[in-house]
Amino acid sequence: MNEERCRIIELPRINDPRGNLTFIEGNNHIPFSIRRTYWIYDVPGGEIRGGHSYRKLQEVIIAVSGSFDVVVDHGGQKQVFSLNRSYYGLYVPNMVWRDLENFSTNSLCLILASDVYVEADYIRNYDEFAALKRR
Ligand code: TYD
Repeated sequence: MNEERCRIIELPRINDPRGNLTFIEGNNHIPFSIRRTYWIYDVPGGEIRGGHSYRKLQEVIIAVSGSFDVVVDHGGQKQVFSLNRSYYGLYVPNMVWRDLENFSTNSLCLILASDVYVEADYIRNYDEFAALKRR
């Protein structure tokens, strides 16, 4: 199956003695237009977020502050992306199971999404996800 894979996208960086700046334009630096942004913060030690896949949604995940791991699974082996720089985005296509874990204290996880929130787009059962991937 010729499917899209997760990949790190290096974002533009304007280094400046007054403080550095990074930006993202939808359909330019990332391969979709941004319809929603959300962020995850105040994660207690040891907690895991995510635990699902999306049928259609694509996203880019950024550790704007601090660090955490994104564990992705394309329906077989797991791959861990450790995010700890505000100028790297992890592109996650649709039909990828992903967990967010190992959050550092005060970390801030920014997510850019290709669509608004639609619960029907979520696959929250791993067996259902794995069965769809085997098709
Ligand atoms: P969920 O996407 O399951 O969180 P996680 O990032 O851990 O995968 O969302 C948790 C709850 O928040 C769920 O009840 C739906 C709600 N929610 C919205 O209402 N809008 C949103 O944009 C998001 C991301 C979640």
